[in-house]
Order: sequence, then structure tokens, then C-alpha cells
Amino acid sequence: MTTRIIGTGSCPGDRVVTNEDLAQIVETSDEWIASRTGIRQRHLTTGMGNSRMAAEAAKRACENAGIRPEELDLILTATSTPEYCFPSTACQVQAEIGAVNAAAFDISAACTGFVFALITAESFLASGMYRTILVIGADELSKVVDWEDRKTCVLFGDGAGACVVRAEESGSFHGIMGADGSRGPVLTCLSRSGGNFLTGEKPEHGFISMDGQEVFKFAVKKVPECVNELLAAQNRKKEEVRYYILHQANERIIESVAKRLKEPIEKFPMNIQNYGNTSGASIPILLDEMNRQGKLDKGDTIVLAGFGGGLTWGAVLLTW
Ligand code: COA
Repeated sequence: MTTRIIGTGSCPGDRVVTNEDLAQIVETSDEWIASRTGIRQRHLTTGMGNSRMAAEAAKRACENAGIRPEELDLILTATSTPEYCFPSTACQVQAEIGAVNAAAFDISAACTGFVFALITAESFLASGMYRTILVIGADELSKVVDWEDRKTCVLFGDGAGACVVRAEESGSFHGIMGADGSRGPVLTCLSRSGGNFLTGEKPEHGFISMDGQEVFKFAVKKVPECVNELLAAQNRKKEEVRYYILHQANERIIESVAKRLKEPIEKFPMNIQNYGNTSGASIPILLDEMNRQGKLDKGDTIVLAGFGGGLTWGAVLLTW
């Protein structure tokens, strides 16, 4: 038994905001943003919010897989920007798409969330507990970005991506996950908690706060390490990998990972120029674009790799 992706879908935020648009509200320029990050524009949501983007991506993934939502056994949503503490985004999606037979819960691992959720799904399939699972990555970072902080506001976008996975006989799927909580302060977003009734302390609303250079150094070291470890553990060679689909945080991070892995940059598809960093959604949005553009052939070996807040990291090697 192995885990195969049988359908994909995505739903970016509905409004395009260009670098020039941002230069109207903070002191920045298209030249600075594009040369440092590769980003030219991002999509922000004007009303759909996290759960409805997630549900739309989910519907498209089910259609693409040729399944009815009633066939889903489980919905996992990787998100750091849910609308509620409860119900979870996954439960909101379950109601919206009519997946009446599915259990549902969220996974919180920031930009690594989709990879963690995919590996979690594979464990449920491997155990035999479930047969068909919907894995979603959804984030609405625009609501936790400080739009007066040029160091962070230029980097992020909103969107959702989804995959339907199913237990099948052929192919391979292997995952690896890691975390280093001691380095959490490098990339944080305080949640709405923090208030205390007895001390009178008022709750704070958090914004994303980041030591950009530390995150950059972490990503360019950890991602190649993690991919090499995964390939070595499975006795697989880099030449067998057709694509490395990395979390889209920064074009320079992806170029540096390619160099460290000694792999051609053509094996690293990118769409960061159009979407910015959509956190948990970036890998499934890119996967969906590639799938719909016919860039993935059945039997291809691909590697997905994510990294981000926690700090967390993870990679998956799978047969398309
Ligand atoms: N526009 C113009 N200037 C900006 C700017 C912006 N949007 N943001 C920062 N600057 C300025 C800084 O104020 C600083 O000016 P100073 O030298 O006068 O102090 C200068 O540009 C350099 O800032 P620095 O933070 O050193 O830039 P950098 O080359 O490290 O690039 C990032 C910043 C954020 C693009 C880069 O560190 C990065 O991509 N890190 C990884 C972040 C990431 O991917 N996070 C998500 C992980 S999931």
C-alpha cells in the first residue's frame, strides 16, 4: 500500500496587489522586493477568508480527483490563520463541501504545515483506518501582517491549495519531519490570547515578526540537509527526482537550495513571483498549477519540501 495524490485544486485570494501598490503605503520599491525575493505581486482575499478559500480549493480538488465529497474519510487542514479557535477550518470545510462522512481537524506547523499534514494523512492510510483523505493548506496571512512594517508586509499573500490522497497498490511515499522549538522566536505571530481576567491584562493582537536573515540561513541549510537525508534513507538518487517542489518563500532561498543540492534550477518550479509567500498554501497551489498545466506525468518521482515557523521543516518523496 502506498499514498498517491489523485487530484488537486487551489484558490488564491481574489485581489492582485502589485509591488507598486505596496510602494504607495510603505517605503519600498518593485526593484527592492523583486531583487531580494522574486515576488512581483501577491493575491489577497477581500472577503472569502481562510475557510472559504480552503473550501473552494477542496471542491476543485475533489472534482479533479473525480470523487464526491461524501467519499472523503478525513479532512486535514494545515493553517496558522484559522477564523476560530473552534470550530477548526477543517470542520468549516467539511460543512461547506458536504463531506458528511469525514472526520476533520487542523494542523499547525506554519509554512511546513502542508507537508506535515500530508505525512499525517499517509499514516492514516498506511494504518488502514482510512482510504480517502483531503489534505488542505490554507492561509490568510494578510490579517496578521503589520501593513506598516515594510520588512514583512511585502512578503506574504493569501490562498489555499488542496490534494485528495488515496491508498493505492503501486508507487512510493516517504516523509521526514523535524522541529526545533528553541529557535521559535526567529519567526513568530502572537495569537489573540494573552489577556488575563484576574490581572486585568488586556489581550493583544499579534502580527508576524521575523528575523529575516536568520530564517534565510536556516532554510538554505536545513532544506538540502532534509532532502539529502530523505533520499539517503530510501536509497534513492537525485537523478531520479523530476521536480523539487519547495515552499515558495523566496526565490533566492530556492536558488541556494538548488545549488547546495547540486541540482539544476529547472528542477525547482516557482510561482512566487505571482503569489508571494502563502505559507501552508504555497506547495499545494504550485502542485495544482503544475498538475493542470500537464507538467506532471504519472510515475514521476517528486520531492516536496517545506520550512518555517516553529521552527519546523519536512520533506516528502512520492510517486505522482
Ligand atoms: N523595501 C525597501 N527596503 C527594505 C525593505 C523593503 N520592503 N525591507 C527592508 N528594507 C531595508 C532594511 O531596512 C535595511 O535597510 P538598512 O540597511 O538601511 O537598515 C535593508 O533593506 C536591508 O535589510 P535586510 O533585512 O538586511 O535585507 P535582506 O537582504 O536580509 O532581505 C528578506 C530581507 C526578508 C527579504 C530576507 O532576509 C529573507 O527573505 N529572509 C527569509 C524570510 C522568509 O522567507 N520568511 C518566511 C519563511 S517561511
